[in-house]
Amino acid sequence: MDEVWAGLRRDDPVHWHPGTADTPGFWVVTRHADVSAILRDPARFTSEKGNVLATMLHGGDSGAGRMLAVTDGPRHKELRTVLMSAFSPRALAGVAQRVRSTTRRLLEEALERGKVDFAQDIASHIPLATICDLLAVPEADRDYILTLTKSALASDYANQDSGEDRLARGELLLYFHDLTRQRRANPGDDVISLLATRKVGGELLHEDDIVLNCYSLIMGGDETSRLSMIGAVHAMIQRPDQWRALKSGDVTMASAGEEVLRWTTPTMHFGRVATEDVELHGRTIAEGDLVTLWFNAANRDEGVFDDPYRFDLGRSPNKHLTLGYGPHFCLGAHLGRVEITAMLDGLRTFVAEVEQVGDERHIYSNFLSGMSSLPVALTPQRGPTPWEE
Ligand code: HEM
Repeated sequence: MDEVWAGLRRDDPVHWHPGTADTPGFWVVTRHADVSAILRDPARFTSEKGNVLATMLHGGDSGAGRMLAVTDGPRHKELRTVLMSAFSPRALAGVAQRVRSTTRRLLEEALERGKVDFAQDIASHIPLATICDLLAVPEADRDYILTLTKSALASDYANQDSGEDRLARGELLLYFHDLTRQRRANPGDDVISLLATRKVGGELLHEDDIVLNCYSLIMGGDETSRLSMIGAVHAMIQRPDQWRALKSGDVTMASAGEEVLRWTTPTMHFGRVATEDVELHGRTIAEGDLVTLWFNAANRDEGVFDDPYRFDLGRSPNKHLTLGYGPHFCLGAHLGRVEITAMLDGLRTFVAEVEQVGDERHIYSNFLSGMSSLPVALTPQRGPTPWEE
């Protein structure tokens, strides 16, 4: 696939993907400069008609104007300010501490067993637990939520009936309706209570809006970081020099985390709809056209990254677009980074060697990219790791 994306970047950076009898065509934008220019231009490229292909192809997003990611303008700004009060580095300090201790515990348990599925047994427990902590989802419901989020967006199997993902989305929404009603009546200090008690546009948010935003936090906050962590381990297994660089302390946690984000790019695309005709590289994007922005392609742009196909944990600068850009820049960016660096730090501290002991399984999705299974054998670190000496 790399050659396909490289060919598009080079020869056809604003490519028209024709429609079918049932769905419209859409533009495919692959260069870093074009993707970032469109992301920072919400006036001409709106998110309010959906921001992922699955919804854009079917006429738009029912959460438009209500859910943060598909709202533009002043309402977006106001809602984002409310949510940001729970997602800033300062607000997340306690959560970050919990992420580190959960990561450490999961790694210790895995090391006792020796062989584990890194995806199922370790990575899948951290981001969802964290976002569930933020939303104060009761412990007893968490496995159920994990099953639903897994089938709502991506699929472990190529032939999954597409009705199943719709069903899972519906169940998640119903679940959060119940929780929202409880928090309206009896608020705590969690994010649902925050949304239930703060005003946007001079009024309290409608219950449906709260539910949609919870849904988006669960979906945005779970699979993405999880896929990055799994992809990081897989990449280091394949490139032992980078595992050694991590272990030796030759690279900082910050630069390693950013390269993991660039390399894995768990959300391959986001999309916009043009609000007026726009000329780009000799093509006319007409008002109303769907425009998809391919972050995986932009993150390998040879005009921006030296040797872009090299996984280099010390890479600097690293202006990847994995967390987006502009007004919709990822709300959970700090949290995602905390989760990924906690995992890298846990691995370099407690694990001497990681060996792959079975085939990885990739997910099937045109939105998310990564693995749902990665069987590994972990050897414990005895004594201090080189970076501690
Ligand atoms: C927005 C990716 C983690 C919640 C975005 C966007 C990207 C992204 C690319 C921009 C979407 C657009 O422009 O249309 C990622 C990746 C993550 C991650 C790769 C982890 C590696 C998280 C976490 C949360 C979260 C942990 C919350 C718990 C959101 C929300 C938005 C968003 C609510 C919408 C922001 C807005 O529209 O103002 N994310 N995300 N994300 N993300 Fe993340």
